Amino acid sequence: GTVIQEFGTGFCAYDGTVDANNGGFSGAGFTNTDNVLGSAIEWQFTVTSADNYPLRWRYANGGDTARGGRLLLNNASIEEIAFSPTSSWTSWSSDGTSVWLSAGTYRARLEATTSSGLGNIDYFAIDSEAAIAADCN
Ligand code: GCU
Ligand code: CA
Ligand code: CA
Repeated sequence: GTVIQEFGTGFCAYDGTVDANNGGFSGAGFTNTDNVLGSAIEWQFTVTSADNYPLRWRYANGGDTARGGRLLLNNASIEEIAFSPTSSWTSWSSDGTSVWLSAGTYRARLEATTSSGLGNIDYFAIDSEAAIAADCN
């Protein structure tokens, strides 16, 4: 499996800042997207065979309400996401989905569907031995 952290291989784009002020993250910090509609983070990975792949991200939402978002793969929307409150900005939860993929390289994008932006995102992971972070292009 592969875990894509800030500024590592496969960490391709983000609207906002990489911060380290709210503890409990792993790696160098977490991505704090701007609190506007459409704020996004993008990662790139390769899978070496056709299979059902578990995609997962770790997030915190210290606000009182869920923040809507969606997951896209190669610009196709595959899942609506709630980013339910985690009780504080230092409490982190995992969320994710599974998707059938043929062998190839994919661009994943988490994108805010409300003006609140995303929850803070610690990392993006693919829990499969057949998945590896890919250079952004
Ligand atoms: C707080 C928090 C940030 C978070 C922001 C938000 O400022 O410290 O990490 O991104 O709220 O509401 O999105
Ligand atoms: Ca934010
Ligand atoms: Ca991190």
